[in-house]
Amino acid sequence: MPDKMETIVSLCKRRGFVFPSSEIYGGLANAWDYGPLGVELKNNIKQAWWSRFVHRRDDVVGLDAALLMNPKVWEASGHLQHFTDPLVDCKKCKQRFRADHIVPATSAKPDLGKQVEPPKGKAVCPNCGGELTAVRQFNLMLKTFLGPVEDSGSSVYFRPETAQAMFVDFKQVQAVTRKKLPFGIAQVGKAFRNEITPGNFIFRTREFEQMEIEFFVRENEWEWWFEHWLSEMKGWLKFLGVAETDLNFREIPDGERAHYSKRTIDIDYHYPFGSKELYGLAYRTDFDLQRHAEVSGADLRYTDPQSGEKFFPHVIEPTWGVDRSVLVTLLSAYAEEGSGDKKRVVLKLPKTLAPYRVAVFPLLANKPELTKLAREIYDDLRKTFNVAWDDRGNIGKRYLSQDEIGTPACITVDFDSLKDGAVTVRDRDTTKQERVKIGELIEYLIKL
Ligand code: GAP
Repeated sequence: MPDKMETIVSLCKRRGFVFPSSEIYGGLANAWDYGPLGVELKNNIKQAWWSRFVHRRDDVVGLDAALLMNPKVWEASGHLQHFTDPLVDCKKCKQRFRADHIVPATSAKPDLGKQVEPPKGKAVCPNCGGELTAVRQFNLMLKTFLGPVEDSGSSVYFRPETAQAMFVDFKQVQAVTRKKLPFGIAQVGKAFRNEITPGNFIFRTREFEQMEIEFFVRENEWEWWFEHWLSEMKGWLKFLGVAETDLNFREIPDGERAHYSKRTIDIDYHYPFGSKELYGLAYRTDFDLQRHAEVSGADLRYTDPQSGEKFFPHVIEPTWGVDRSVLVTLLSAYAEEGSGDKKRVVLKLPKTLAPYRVAVFPLLANKPELTKLAREIYDDLRKTFNVAWDDRGNIGKRYLSQDEIGTPACITVDFDSLKDGAVTVRDRDTTKQERVKIGELIEYLIKL
């Protein structure tokens, strides 16, 4: 395939998955809108995640915290001080780069508190070969003001990760749920980072979404829970349809981890533009609860119900980017099959994630009796699934159109349907067709 990334970006725009934001005004650099199909795929991913890690477990509860938090949160967490990327400018062409992207070996992955050294030796501008400026640390926090006066007293920050709310609200959540250790708090929501070099479509943007769990454990149990969450993350990736061969589990060595972490594994994906981070798993120790207790003065310790002992729980943090999940799901699902007249593009999405679960067609659009029955089926199925309707062009073209957006099944109402009360169901992956009784369609599609 020539450039899979270009193919995906173009498919996303053409079919309304994702397109540039505010395009009629020339767009806004690296801001993207999820269109009618994209929002369905993204919502299905978030719902599947929530159902898997919150509803189907009895040791994780949910949270939906405010995006703007008291600025002291970011002082305590270390973000105001440490959440920086190393920035260099080219003196000649004036392009701006992340120093660690130019000479990866000389610096750590930029993240909260990780050590970053300036590019060593003869680092030059990758664009024009020009001389680079010295490295400056650039804070990634996105600032805004609350209320009518724009002064330092009214400045607040858009959260750069959802995680901190789970620490700040730990005591509150534990008190109302009466959860005993080990247990976790999950959250899905937007995060903002003033990235120096966003790019590669929805891979790195300044506004993005995360799905995170802060899982609170006793210190002596952390290794077991770390392995548990690693295995859960692998299971999730399998569910998304991501091949193991496209993944690399990268142990982050001492000195390159965030200051709060005693162990971190980055799960990298082999994107068409290189192997880069998809998700992360970190053992954050009791750093965050300790810091918030220290700065706020609140007692954030857990009381052991048996012994009455008070202590700060330790934390395992599996973190998933929503937008990167959408991207790798699309990359993994994309296939081109056949050739010539028989060529088709098919998104082999996991069936429960597809924007439409099924499409309904009348064989011919100008036959009211077919359209009437097809419409009845369409209205009925819509009570259970998101359903597409298509009566344009010929059936072959309609199949191709649904394959390209990953619709798992297509139902055609034909003249026989009027007599035998059955319809033709065509399977996206095998392209095989079978007759199914109209009354059995819901059950059939659920099984599918
Ligand atoms: N609470 C830990 C944390 O935020 P992170 O590795 O900085 O860790 C977690 O971010 C995940 O969020 C990443 O693995 C990635 O999937 C996603 N992510 C981070 N920055 C992003 C960006 N600029 N654009 C899109 N997704 C991003």
